[in-house]
Amino acid sequence: MTGPARLRLAVLASGRGSNLQAILDAIARGELQADVAAVFSDRPQSLALQRARDAGIEALAVVPSGFDDRSRFDEHLFSRIDAVHPDVIVCAGYMRLISADAVEARSGRMINIHPSLLPAFKGLHTHRQALAEGATRHGASVHFVTADLDGGPVIARAAIDVRADDSEASLAARVLEVEHSLLVATLNLFAARRVGLVAGAVTLDGEALRAPLQLDAAGALC
Ligand code: GRF
Repeated sequence: MTGPARLRLAVLASGRGSNLQAILDAIARGELQADVAAVFSDRPQSLALQRARDAGIEALAVVPSGFDDRSRFDEHLFSRIDAVHPDVIVCAGYMRLISADAVEARSGRMINIHPSLLPAFKGLHTHRQALAEGATRHGASVHFVTADLDGGPVIARAAIDVRADDSEASLAARVLEVEHSLLVATLNLFAARRVGLVAGAVTLDGEALRAPLQLDAAGALC
């Protein structure tokens, strides 16, 4: 018997691209039955584009300043993304708002990794927000992208303890480590065709998920 076809991914990233690299490394190790069809960025200098090229993957920068407004930019960007026929579009450190039309046309096929335990600490500077609020637990979430910024249905989360002596940088570094495992584990659910979005709710094996999955210490989602 053969399993499901390998998952075809398009990755959107604006910066360093360590989450992209985690995906590429997991694929190379045979731990994720997926292929990255292409990587897209709004920033030509993004290290993510270089990481893609180094891996022999198509890498394309689409620069917003060349377009009249967000809708035109997104129309062009997403037409290029659609052209590689991804099963799933992964926003991995993509720092631009996406227009509602572009999101809604790809509902259930676009996910984002966010560095907080959503719904806590949406937006930017999440580690700073967590420290300022005196949070004792912090982490990362993978959610379906909707027009509501960082507000789409959460598929899975990974939590860590905040230490009394944590700085923004030390907390960010520990969260980033769990982000990588969380993103790969979540993509494995997509690769197995186990996860979906039905009527605004996450489904796992066809059943509505009551609460986001949690990454355990062994790197499994439960
Ligand atoms: C990550 O913390 C991600 O959660 C956030 O932006 C950062 C991107 O890091 N959305 P990288 O570019 O994947 O290294």
